[in-house]
Amino acid sequence: MTTFWSIYISVITIGTLAGCFWLVRYTMRVNPNEQLGEKELNHKWDGDLVEYNNPLPKWWLNLFYGTIVFAAIYLTLYPGLGTWEGLFGWTSHKQYEQEVEKAAAKYDPLYAKYAQVPLTELAKNEDAMKIGQSLFGNNCAQCHGSFGLGNKGFPNLTDNDWLWGGKPETIEQTILQGRNAAMPAWGPTLGEDGVKAVAEYVLSFTGRESDKALAEKGKQTFNTMCIGCHGADGKGNQMLGAANLTDDVWLYGSSKEDIIETITHGRNGKMPGWEKVLGKDKAHLVAAYVLSLSQDQ
Ligand code: HEC
Ligand code: HEC
Repeated sequence: MTTFWSIYISVITIGTLAGCFWLVRYTMRVNPNEQLGEKELNHKWDGDLVEYNNPLPKWWLNLFYGTIVFAAIYLTLYPGLGTWEGLFGWTSHKQYEQEVEKAAAKYDPLYAKYAQVPLTELAKNEDAMKIGQSLFGNNCAQCHGSFGLGNKGFPNLTDNDWLWGGKPETIEQTILQGRNAAMPAWGPTLGEDGVKAVAEYVLSFTGRESDKALAEKGKQTFNTMCIGCHGADGKGNQMLGAANLTDDVWLYGSSKEDIIETITHGRNGKMPGWEKVLGKDKAHLVAAYVLSLSQDQ
């Protein structure tokens, strides 16, 4: 904050406080009723309602002075007047750091304890899973959904269908290191018709092709271009995160249009790595939680 703004804010704040004080004192100078002439006092409604202008009640006044004194003390102890830091030296940043430190002192030993427990066992520990759930809510839910049900482009973690593998250690590795899927764009190589044909063949894996001749043509393309990653049977490859095309679980949508879009433009799903953000122990807990999600099914 520049000196100008610091002074600007301080003057307005102190000025307002002083102004409040002055206003009350000013209106109390004289008993207003003594100033009123007959005319005002005779100001009557409904025959018996008379207007007076009485002084403020004592209790109300004291309360009012109290708030001014409170504000003055507060502004001395805490920051509020421009760059004045306050006698306590409080900052929201410091408070946050202290709270993080306190939480770490409290929970780190607990995380360390759970880190020794194998994932499958940890997934059955209710207390641990409560912590796992809140870690998931804070770090993973924005992409995978609060219940891990996923969304287009973000895999469902509860369906026991895995792009990268569902062994406990593999899930933990996915979370620690992250994953980058690389499905190339085939539009430029195959052209619109080529893509349509191969999409027709892809649909046949789940018994949905509508044009047998086209699908047959697409099969040739598939067996040269796609087989390296998705396998001859279309079951995919978990080492590459290449989706299984036969299980009717679709990351990018199941309609023919979605599939044509995927093949034409390619897809690059990115799962961020969490080792640096969460540390190994918390990642272990959240991995157990993900495991528990799929085991519930
Ligand atoms: C270099 C490896 C590679 C090749 C070659 C490849 N794919 Fe893929 N494919 C992937 C990966 C990896 C994914 C998952 C993308 C993601 O998760 O973002 C994928 C995803 C898909 C999907 C989406 C699946 C879903 O669940 O939504 C379709 C459809 C698909 N590929 C079809 C094809 C077709 C057809 C070809 C050949 C023309 C092909 N792929 C060639 C790696 C490959
Ligand atoms: C920025 C979005 C984002 C966040 C945040 C995120 N993920 Fe992911 N995650 C993804 C995407 C995208 C994929 C799929 C990558 C691909 O296409 O292969 C994925 C894949 C996964 C997989 C592999 C699924 C499979 O089928 O193999 C697991 C497990 C996973 N995430 C767990 C987590 C956990 C646990 C967290 C929180 C610590 C998390 N993710 C946070 C985007 C995210």
